[in-house]
Amino acid sequence: MILLPDDFVVTPWEVSGDIDYDRLIERFGTQKIDDELVARLVKHTGEMHTMLRRGIFYSHRDLNLILDDHEKGRGFVMYTGRGPSGHTHLGHLMPWIFTKYLQDRFGVELYFQLTDDEKFLFLPELSLEDTKNFAYENALDIIALGFDKDKTRIFLDTEYAHQMYNIALKVAKKVTFSTAKAVFGFDNSNNIGSIWFTSMQAATAFLPSVLKGENIRCVIPCAIDQDPHFRVARDIAEGIGFYKPALLHCKMLPSLAGSDKMSASLPSTSIFTVDSAGDIKKKIGNAFTGGAVSVDEQRKNGGNPDICSVYQYFYYIFEEDDAKLDDRWAKCRSGEILCGECKGDLTARVTGFVAKHQEKREKARDVVEEFMLRDCQGGDD
Ligand code: TRP
Repeated sequence: MILLPDDFVVTPWEVSGDIDYDRLIERFGTQKIDDELVARLVKHTGEMHTMLRRGIFYSHRDLNLILDDHEKGRGFVMYTGRGPSGHTHLGHLMPWIFTKYLQDRFGVELYFQLTDDEKFLFLPELSLEDTKNFAYENALDIIALGFDKDKTRIFLDTEYAHQMYNIALKVAKKVTFSTAKAVFGFDNSNNIGSIWFTSMQAATAFLPSVLKGENIRCVIPCAIDQDPHFRVARDIAEGIGFYKPALLHCKMLPSLAGSDKMSASLPSTSIFTVDSAGDIKKKIGNAFTGGAVSVDEQRKNGGNPDICSVYQYFYYIFEEDDAKLDDRWAKCRSGEILCGECKGDLTARVTGFVAKHQEKREKARDVVEEFMLRDCQGGDD
C-alpha cells in the first residue's frame, strides 16, 4: 500500500498516519452523529456525555433504528469487545466508559467479547495461554468500570466456543474469500484462521437474539477501526435472519508520541491500567508536546496545543470542564503556561485515576465469575 504524505491507514489491525476522521466517514460509508441525533439520544439519557459533546463519539450506523425500538418498547442490547493482546491501556477504556454510561441510562444488557482466538491467530508471538491470561486481566478492567453485574456478560471466544461456533458458521457460509480480501486486505500469506475470524466477531452481534429466541436489535459502541468487521456483518445479517447490527463509533485516543492511536505494542507511549505512578510520570514526562524549542521562545510565541499529546489527553478524557480546557488551550497559545506545568497537571490526574481504578480492579477478582459466560474449557497449549 502506498502511503501518501497526508494519508493514513485505518483497519482493525493497523492504524497509522494522521487520521482525518471526516474522510474516514466517507471512506467507510458511515453517518455522522449530527446535532439532531445527539439531541434525540440525550432526550433519553437525560445528560449530555462529554464524549458526545466533543465529538469523540462522532459516527454511527442505524442509531436511529435503535432509538426507534427503544421508544416502541421493543428494547435493544449492546455488544462490544476487546482483543486480549496485552494489558488494557487508557485508549481501550474510552469506548467502555461511554458504553457504561449508555448501560446506566438505558438499563440494557451488554455482551462483552474477548477475542483470545483473534490475538492468537494474528500475533505470532502469543500462545493461547497468553491470550487467555490477558483476557482475564482485561476482564478485571471491564468489571472495574462498574458495569451492571446482572446485565453484563463477558466471554472468551475459546470458552464459549460451542455457542459461538454455531452462529459463526452461519456467518462464514455467507462471506466469500473475495469479500474478506477486499475488506481486510488479506493475501495468500495470511493463515486461514485469520480469514475465518471475522465470522466470530460478527457472531456476537446475533448472539443475544439466539439466546433470547427472538430478534432484538444490537448496537455496538467501538473505536471506528473495528467498523470493517461490522460492515461484513451488516451485509449478511438479514440473509441469515437477523437485524443488521447498529454501530456507534469513536475516535482513537492518540499515543503520547503524537499521532496514531495508543498502541499496546509501543508500551512507552501508552499508559496501562497496571502502570505504577512512577511509570506514568515517566511516560507523560517524555510525551510529545506542542512546545517550542526553548522556554524563551515559548514564552514569546506560545506553544501549539493542537498537535500536543498532553493536551489531547485532557481533551479526550481528563478535563471534562470545557471552560478549563479552553483556558488551558489559550494559555498555551499565549505562552503563559509551559509544557512542564501541563505535564505535571496531567500526571496528577492520570495517577489519581489509575490508582482508583487499580483498587476497583483488585476487588473485581472476587466477582469475575459472576460475569462470565462459558460452555467449554477453551484453548490450552
Ligand atoms: N477485534 C477487537 C480488537 O482487536 C475485539 C473486538 C471483538 C471488538 N468484538 C468487538 C471491539 C466489538 C469492539 C467491538 O480489539
